[in-house]
Amino acid sequence: MEAAMSEQSLSTPVVIATPNTRKVFVKTYGCQMNVYDSERMTDALSKDGYQATDVLEEADLVLLNTCHIREKAAEKVYSELGRLRDMKKARAKDGREMVIGVTGCVAQAEGKEILRRAPAVDLVIGPQTYHRLPDALRRAKGGERVVETDYALEDKFEHLPAPEKAKTRARGVTAFLTVQEGCDKFCTFCVVPYTRGSEVSRPVSQIVAEAERLVDGGVREITLLGQNVNAWHGIGPDGTEWGLGDLLYRLAEIEGLARLRYTTSHPRDMDDRLVEAHRDLPALMPYLHLPVQSGSDRILKAMNRRHTAAEYIALIERIRAIQPELAISGDFIVGFPGETDQDFEDTMRLIETVGYAQAFSFKYSIRPGTPGAEMDGHVDEAVKSERLERLQALLFRQQREFARTCIGKEIDLLLEKPGRMPGQLVGRSPWLQPVNVDAKTSEIGDIIRVRITDAGPNSLFAEAIR
Ligand code: 5AD
Ligand code: SF4
Repeated sequence: MEAAMSEQSLSTPVVIATPNTRKVFVKTYGCQMNVYDSERMTDALSKDGYQATDVLEEADLVLLNTCHIREKAAEKVYSELGRLRDMKKARAKDGREMVIGVTGCVAQAEGKEILRRAPAVDLVIGPQTYHRLPDALRRAKGGERVVETDYALEDKFEHLPAPEKAKTRARGVTAFLTVQEGCDKFCTFCVVPYTRGSEVSRPVSQIVAEAERLVDGGVREITLLGQNVNAWHGIGPDGTEWGLGDLLYRLAEIEGLARLRYTTSHPRDMDDRLVEAHRDLPALMPYLHLPVQSGSDRILKAMNRRHTAAEYIALIERIRAIQPELAISGDFIVGFPGETDQDFEDTMRLIETVGYAQAFSFKYSIRPGTPGAEMDGHVDEAVKSERLERLQALLFRQQREFARTCIGKEIDLLLEKPGRMPGQLVGRSPWLQPVNVDAKTSEIGDIIRVRITDAGPNSLFAEAIR
């Protein structure tokens, strides 16, 4: 150990000792809202002298930012905590400290229970209280096992640091911006209203300021996030009530901001202004993630979705009439309690009717505390698996068909990162597919004109055109 250290200092020209620099490793599970939160937590900790690392072995603080949406997601956290416990023990033998924290929706849902099941955990913090992280960490270091899951009265966004320019630059040319959090819809399968709480919309001025900062830091594409993003509302500078559509028109005015996206939307909150934004704003990408979950009216009712399959299809038709380029993406659950073969066939039929460019699909997972868990008619796992397989085959076929229709199209491509081959760069199409292009004279952050030449199973290929 000693020899290795002196060798290193001999070969390093200038070594400035920074004994106070500690490192934090954040592992993010689940949705994009967690990705956003992980970045804000890292920013908050950097004020306390923590540097982010992606090397677990060198971390003094490990945070698991968790997801509770399905049972599997939650269970993954406990197996990871088992591995971390062994690592912490080994460290302690060397006299080195390792603080372990659980954040996110598992923290919110299970709170103290985590301390019982995973004795190596030092702190548990729910998603509404991240601004208290530095303080919680000080207490944990003092030997306390901290649980912070009370919904804070303060607004988390007011207390969390805004993205820093230097960090934004390092994070790339696309960014997430959470505008809304929580959900009041209470779909009967879903834990979100319990873990993320009721709907909160961030004020217009705060969102615009954050977007401007991101653009100032080199960001060219922003994805607005919310569990129910199109339920976002706020008072605009003109004193009137704004919806997400109005917000998008305002953000589209920011110079240098080339692209806007938003996710996830609920069919009941797609108002006219938002639909019109898809017609009027060139910066708003023609892609809409609009989960329907099921194509059976009986199941939609049991899920408390509060719309029918026909209403959903009519909505899609209305939006496509205004913006024919729009690609639709969705979420599906198979095997919700009471789902019959006929209900499942109704879902398959809806998928055929809509035609999805992309979709996410899941087997129903019982979430304790949700109304679905108490319902009769739980579906056999084997039946769920069989239905999921058929559904995914259809969705995958549609995804490939959609990709094939892209061949020959000319599009603007925002270059995001290096590709696998030398000289190759990767961006995303307006419809969110990764696109590989040989672009030796271009740089990350450039928007170049390309022609799609080929479609692989999960990405497109393109050539740059003048
Ligand atoms: N079981 C399976 N899938 C679920 N989702 C939410 N809750 C459950 C559950 N209990 C899916 C929905 C939602 C997506 C984020 O996760 O499809 O849209
Ligand atoms: Fe969950 Fe439904 Fe709210 Fe989406 S709309 S977060 S599925 S309760």
